[in-house]
Amino acid sequence: MTRLSDLAWWQKTIAYEIYPKSFLDTVGQGTGTIAGVTAKLDYLASLGVGAIWITPCYKSPMVDNGYDVENYLEIDPSFGTMDDMDELIARGRELGIRVVLDLVFNHTSEECEWFKESRKSRDNDYADWYIWHDARPDGSAPTNWRSIFGGSAWAWCEERQQYYLHTFAPQQPDLNWENPAVRSALIDIANFWVEKGVGGFRIDAITYIKKPAVFADGPADGEDGMYAVHAATANTPGILDFLHEFKVAVRDGRDIFMVGEANGVEASELGQWVGDEGVFDMLFEFSHTHVPMGKAEVWCRPADWRLAELKQALTASQEGTATNGWYPIFFENHDQPRSVVNFFRCEGSAASKAKALGTVLLTLRGTPFIMQGEELGYSNRVWKSLDEFDDLQTRSQYEFALSEGFDATQALAACNRFSRDNARTPMQWDTSANAGFSSATPWLPVHDDYQTVNVEVESADPSSPLSWFRTLAKLRSERDELVTGDYEELMADSDQVYAFRRQGEGSAAVILANLSDRPAAYDSALIEGMNLLAGTHGESTPGELRPLEAVVFGA
Ligand code: NOJ
Repeated sequence: MTRLSDLAWWQKTIAYEIYPKSFLDTVGQGTGTIAGVTAKLDYLASLGVGAIWITPCYKSPMVDNGYDVENYLEIDPSFGTMDDMDELIARGRELGIRVVLDLVFNHTSEECEWFKESRKSRDNDYADWYIWHDARPDGSAPTNWRSIFGGSAWAWCEERQQYYLHTFAPQQPDLNWENPAVRSALIDIANFWVEKGVGGFRIDAITYIKKPAVFADGPADGEDGMYAVHAATANTPGILDFLHEFKVAVRDGRDIFMVGEANGVEASELGQWVGDEGVFDMLFEFSHTHVPMGKAEVWCRPADWRLAELKQALTASQEGTATNGWYPIFFENHDQPRSVVNFFRCEGSAASKAKALGTVLLTLRGTPFIMQGEELGYSNRVWKSLDEFDDLQTRSQYEFALSEGFDATQALAACNRFSRDNARTPMQWDTSANAGFSSATPWLPVHDDYQTVNVEVESADPSSPLSWFRTLAKLRSERDELVTGDYEELMADSDQVYAFRRQGEGSAAVILANLSDRPAAYDSALIEGMNLLAGTHGESTPGELRPLEAVVFGA
């Protein structure tokens, strides 16, 4: 049994993801600033947030909104200055909110000095800092790997007369982690930020850092004759050795946490990654976010899925970290569609869905990560044309849908459903122009619902998603079992209700969330001797849940 006193600060708190470009613009440029984050720390404190993960704000050409880093030790001028970052870290600490930075270490920008040198010749100091490979005799790319953003994962460099590997966009060349000088430079960068006082790191795309010993074609998995780079390179044996070295040099002995983004790691493998012998404190694995894709071969043809499958995936992750390691609970991030669309296949308002799923988010075992706007019940926006999207991946997804035989309307509908830009629309603060996000035209359109879905209006409405998130955050801070308690799934076969028990030392809670739009029944013996601690619909009749009703009982 876990004791509260044995837990680190980051296990007891709530984390919040900030996409700074869309959070708050303090200078009237249409994009958010670091000073905008500092200005809203009180708001975050009111949600019980103790850690803010800020997506990359380093100097960058912004081809992938900062995930293409030109200089890891500089702040991009569009976000402000290093002084602004120092101020944010310091003010945050005063309020008990630690800043967590995003380390993008699988790749850099093509504008990074390291790459600019590396591409010049085959024998300079940086020649071996990236993954270079000769062409095949016919001049074509070394393998048939398809990059994650579409097209070949290899780009030709005239100067070197070689190809370089890019798991993502061509402007994001992959670093060569086999080179000790690369690893040491990355460690120095992380330590620079630790010394500045950050509370930890989210580490981007980490499963791709180790490439296979032999680069070989894979079986074609699409009409283009290519093979997904993910299948060819993710989670290559030996990867944990690199990460152990990194952990010892950056994490050990420090009061920080590291959460890796690890697409391709299964819940059953969590033990190797987190916990006593692991390399991270937590790992974002994606088994549950893959469920709404159904068993589809390609993202734009999602098949049916059932709630029981989603619960199974979450339970596997809960069990994978039950006695060793810790779990970052999330339903949204800046790469996912909004959860009220993604995880529901029923009618009902976005607000009710946000409250029902938010109940699960804030009561599972682990550290909840709220994506900005999730607490307000954001839903996907209606995108009227491809031009409205900014995200480079959405554009390539659109092309891919066309290549799969979709017509233009169907391809646009698929992007509406899955685009990453759904998570990136500006934060809605109030009912004023541009939802109070910026005095200039925002870089992405504000959602049409901002007159009702915003911080100001929802703060005044006790039945809003925001008020519900605040209620649950408070409950979590008062009830130890919601933090320390063991997890046991109840009603595992139900396709309507997600129910689980959190058993603490001397106290327990039972959470029941009806994630369907039909009334649902449960055995009231599950809550025997317990009181209703919080309910989305106020009082609740034992044994019955109204559509999208969620309740927390405790004793
Ligand atoms: C994962 C990040 O979350 C995503 O936004 C980015 O495009 C890729 N990694 C590449 O860095």
